[in-house]
Amino acid sequence: DKGEYRHFMLKEIYEQPKVIQATMEGRLTDSKVLEQALGTEAEKLLGDIRHVQIVACGTSYHAGMVARYWIEELAGVPCSVEVASEYRYRSHVIQPDTLFLTISQSGETADSLAALRQAKKAGFRAALAVCNVPGSSLVRESDLVVMTQAGPEIGVASTKAFTTQLTALLIFTLALARHNGMDASKEAEIVQALRQLPRQVEQVLALDGKIADLSRAFMDKNHSLFLGRGAMFPVALEGALKLKEISYIHAEAYPAGELKHGPLALVDSEMPVVTVAPNNMLMEKLKSNLEEVRARGGELFVFADGEAGLTEEDGVHVMSIPEVHPITAPVVYTVPLQLLSYHVAVLKGTDVDQPRNLAKSVTVE
Ligand code: M6R
Repeated sequence: DKGEYRHFMLKEIYEQPKVIQATMEGRLTDSKVLEQALGTEAEKLLGDIRHVQIVACGTSYHAGMVARYWIEELAGVPCSVEVASEYRYRSHVIQPDTLFLTISQSGETADSLAALRQAKKAGFRAALAVCNVPGSSLVRESDLVVMTQAGPEIGVASTKAFTTQLTALLIFTLALARHNGMDASKEAEIVQALRQLPRQVEQVLALDGKIADLSRAFMDKNHSLFLGRGAMFPVALEGALKLKEISYIHAEAYPAGELKHGPLALVDSEMPVVTVAPNNMLMEKLKSNLEEVRARGGELFVFADGEAGLTEEDGVHVMSIPEVHPITAPVVYTVPLQLLSYHVAVLKGTDVDQPRNLAKSVTVE
């Protein structure tokens, strides 16, 4: 039931504060991750893990890409990420004590399942699934499971599944990091940042009207570019995927530093450029990328921390996002991009919840 909402997608975007909270429930104290909440098997295993191999598709793959930044930065454990359809059809070098981690909303995605089945024969230490559907094939066939608590996701474009995957993956990362020397004060700092997510996502949802206004600029465009750096690069990828899926506007995401290496040639007044830029150490670099776009007449849409020192000017639209911890920023910055693609699709009159050619669950190759 869509309730007061016009589409399931919008309802699911608005459910995010609640389902992020639900995904943290029982897994955190004020300062710590409750490792036992990940299961007794996980407790025994985490100290042995020397490498993590993540495999997933689509939006879930983007969650895996964010998790790689977290796992390497916080736990200091090497992590690789690959789309399942590629992973399953090539040969691998498997390092000893590697955890095989699949991420899937449905738990029924054919390529992710096939990759898991291969992995179980291939000598991984264990298989962990981050999944939203209890009793799904992925859940049944994995050794360990961390459930997301997003509830049923009806819209084909994944929204709340993604932000709850990120929440679950960060909790898992903290547990892994504790076994790899992260100190208690750092853990407490990030747990606090996690606890603030529901409120921060609420604050972003309050920008809905302004984002709807911005979305008009995309209505008559055929192409768009999304830029981000570090863990915000996968957020840019996810923003671009949402836009193409539901509005059918061609959208490409690049790490901002790659702009000069090719895509800048495409930038003109017909190519809106969307940037996600929390105020972290990469901001200064990003600013120079933005100038490059501006100099070529590109219209810029910047989602940035109010403190980032970016000002609204002709052709530069700045949407101020509440200050967030750099580690949890990917969760918060995903939300305005969901709203942007939603409003563009509504303006274009496309079928938001059931975009053409797509299925909610890709159970065949
Ligand atoms: O159920 P899964 O998370 O395994 O699905 C993976 C992809 O099919 C899915 O995320 C797809 O990319 C979405 N339509 C994106 O919005």
